[in-house]
Amino acid sequence: MIYLDHNATTPLCGEAREAMLPLLGDLLGNPSGIHAHGRRARAAVDDARDSIAAILGAKSHELIFTSGGTESCNLALLGLSRRHRTAEKNHLITTASEHHAVLHAMRALKEKEGFELTEIPVNERGLVEPEVFAAALRPGTILASVMIANNETGVIQSVEQLAAIARERGVLFHTDAVQAFGKMECLPHQLGVDALSAASHKFYGPHGAGFLWLRSGVSIDSIQHGGFHENERRPGTENVAAIAGMAVAARVAMAEVERGSEAPRQEALRERLWHGITSTDPSAIRNASGAPVLANTLNVSFPGCDGETLLMGLDLEGVSASSGSACMVGSIQASHVLLAMGVPEERARATVRFSLGRHTSEADIDAALEALTRVLSRQHRS
Ligand SMILES: Cc1ncc(COP(=O)(O)O)c(C=O)c1O
Repeated sequence: MIYLDHNATTPLCGEAREAMLPLLGDLLGNPSGIHAHGRRARAAVDDARDSIAAILGAKSHELIFTSGGTESCNLALLGLSRRHRTAEKNHLITTASEHHAVLHAMRALKEKEGFELTEIPVNERGLVEPEVFAAALRPGTILASVMIANNETGVIQSVEQLAAIARERGVLFHTDAVQAFGKMECLPHQLGVDALSAASHKFYGPHGAGFLWLRSGVSIDSIQHGGFHENERRPGTENVAAIAGMAVAARVAMAEVERGSEAPRQEALRERLWHGITSTDPSAIRNASGAPVLANTLNVSFPGCDGETLLMGLDLEGVSASSGSACMVGSIQASHVLLAMGVPEERARATVRFSLGRHTSEADIDAALEALTRVLSRQHRS
């Protein structure tokens, strides 16, 4: 079995698993409890908070633990928009190529709550142009949200530049760092953002945990109603073991980023995959070519083929890849990310995303290429 779908989710790393096991075995109290059992759970959550804050160069109280990327993005967008709305300020900005966790949250604010929304376009390489972003800002703009790295194409936006433009105009800036965190440096103060979302299962941590970093002094409305957890910003009993595992996974992933050897290794494997693909199918098109992209991501259209059929063929050969966003599996819609880049619908439907990871080897790439060659020859024959 060859797994080339790391942008959908990553395997749990051994270090995170080790950190979680003691918290899963014995009776663990509720972190809100004042007794010894509760204090043990509270200590695990506090340690995780301090550890992630240190990685981000942030303060511990700036972190809000959530259930994952979707919740972090929703909390940032709904919570900040509602809290900072005034009679004069009612406008939001995002981009056409965001993950649905952002795009659908923004559209819900527009459709259900009467906010005004500008969805700015991306260019044919998938990049937000700073002039286009600047032109969308208005005196009434509350918040802008632009992702660091795209989950389908891997395209990396110049968030630092965009956030600086927003800051000059007094506009709050959220970035969806769900794909970027653990793969590249993501320091919120360096980026100049006000809020940053991440999800544990994208950086070899467990499912069911994520965090929102929120700049100290920025107020937010809770989007759930309940107790006083997370400084009254996210009620609900914490997922203690997952949070502890997430912190360890974050440390391991960011140490890897600092060492600097893993990204070039994955990049070389990705190029090997791309060269193999072009020799098998010279008509294959590399999407987002020319843009800065994550080292692990390759998004390819195979003109004349059906993407879903290709993926099913690869699956039968033991290769797991994806058509883009995992949430779109089973859906026959063409990728909104590729359409936003001006990719024709038919080509968008003929697309496969390969995303490599820490354990991907040269042998995996060569075996995946052999499988792909067989699958493509079957498609071309039928
Ligand atoms: C860029 C991006 N944002 C948000 C999400 C949502 O994260 P989660 O699946 O943890 O809810 C994903 C997941 O694929 C993503 O890739």
